[in-house]
Amino acid sequence: MFNGETVLETKNADGTLTLGRQLGREAGPQSIFLLEGDLGTGKTVLAHGIAQGLGVRTWRGSPTFNLIHEYEGRLPYFHIDAYRLTPGEAMELDLIDMLERGGVLAVEWPDRVLPALGHPRESVVTVHLEDLGEAGRRIELRR
Ligand SMILES: Nc1ncnc2c1ncn2[C@@H]1O[C@H](COP(=O)(O)OP(=O)(O)O)[C@@H](O)[C@H]1O
Ligand SMILES: [Mg+2]
Repeated sequence: MFNGETVLETKNADGTLTLGRQLGREAGPQSIFLLEGDLGTGKTVLAHGIAQGLGVRTWRGSPTFNLIHEYEGRLPYFHIDAYRLTPGEAMELDLIDMLERGGVLAVEWPDRVLPALGHPRESVVTVHLEDLGEAGRRIELRR
């Protein structure tokens, strides 16, 4: 879908969901999506779209209080919200195990868990979302 850096705008939540769906369709085993951006910028909507693109049927919403939701799509899918995590707690999530199982990871507030991901990974897409007000969202993709 893209290489290097791409910037686009989504006009509404549906646009963000559709973008996520495209990312999910193209995801492979061990794909990692780092979802950056302030509260309310659409990270969870994007994670939902990724789930749809992976063929996940039932969406369970934001894992803010559970920290992590695991799904079975065409690949295992792990949606993580690290907002409340300390780096120490993040180490206990065992992200490496999720990857070794061929999983796809989508992580909100990824700075909290980066140390737990170990060595730099190949298939990382960093997504940065920004609120443009009436105009929707600016979304920057970096791979
Ligand atoms: N492009 C967009 N334009 C306007 N609103 C959007 C857009 N994308 C997502 N939203 C809305 O932003 C709000 C916050 O989304 P959410 O995914 O919960 O944010 P976050 O997980 O980053 O806190 C939701 O009401 C969602 O519908
Ligand atoms: Mg969220």
